[in-house]
Amino acid sequence: MIIAIDLGGMSAKGAVLQDGKLVGCARVKTNAQNSIEETVASLFALCKEVVLNAGGNLDEVTAVGIGSPGVIDSQKGEVVHWSNFSWHDVPLGKMLSEKIGKPVFVTNDANAAALGEAKYGAGKRFSDSVLITLGTGVGGGIILGGKLFEGYKSAGAELGHTVICKDGEPCSCGRRGCLEAYASATALMRMTKEEMQKNRESAMWNISPALSDVDGKTAFLAAEQGDASGQKVVENYVQALGEGIANIVNLLRPQAIVLGGGVSAQGEALLVPLRKYVSENIYVSQTYAPIEILCASLGNDAGLYGAGQYAVDRLK
Ligand code: BGC
Repeated sequence: MIIAIDLGGMSAKGAVLQDGKLVGCARVKTNAQNSIEETVASLFALCKEVVLNAGGNLDEVTAVGIGSPGVIDSQKGEVVHWSNFSWHDVPLGKMLSEKIGKPVFVTNDANAAALGEAKYGAGKRFSDSVLITLGTGVGGGIILGGKLFEGYKSAGAELGHTVICKDGEPCSCGRRGCLEAYASATALMRMTKEEMQKNRESAMWNISPALSDVDGKTAFLAAEQGDASGQKVVENYVQALGEGIANIVNLLRPQAIVLGGGVSAQGEALLVPLRKYVSENIYVSQTYAPIEILCASLGNDAGLYGAGQYAVDRLK
């Protein structure tokens, strides 16, 4: 049994990866205000829960794989820097390993998702693909020649912190104009609220009667109903994400861009305008080297599959 954990800014999901399948899935809440010890304690509780759900016990567990946001020193299992949680040099792997008594391997969450898709999902068809997660932050995972590219000291592929607008919106990393500041679910919610405040007539107010009800779906649902304000938010969102993707395409020219994270649940409503924007803005045409833009076929489970697979690979 391998335990897989996908740690996120609002929740951590866990499961047991057994014979290539996820079983016993469970979830715990996470919060930037919690201490590191509290977060590790809830991850330990999550481990116990998923093993129990899967009908096993901790003795049967070989290892734990965690996908965590931030720059991860994957050799040491340390979260070197995670700006959303203000974590610096957190020995996450060691702390959980001391509780559970098993080896714990840690990689970046988006790297895990890229690995999951490449091994079990949509990425299987491609040797070169880039996965972008659209959640609390924007993460990147790069697969080149069928292998995960982590960069020097596994600090690379921070695609969310590439700048698409100089002096633009502030980002959690301290810079301005990062892709994350426009294409994360957090940014989508911010842009939705800003537009709602400008237009009291917008159908977005029927979907989310209070600003606190706004989520990543609000603008998309309104746009689908033909609401001009909702359409404007979606259009701006697509353009920003499209800018970021065009840069990635010009840099790496992968065969595919795979979208994961909460916002990717919008599926075709997001993909159709995005494909158009990207194909109009990349350097070498689609005719020469076609790029597929698609959603993670494992959906939000891509990170869990990948975290489990990461542990499997590290045990080899
Ligand atoms: C972090 C990345 C992470 C992404 C998604 C970003 O803010 O810098 O390391 O992969 O959020 O969680």
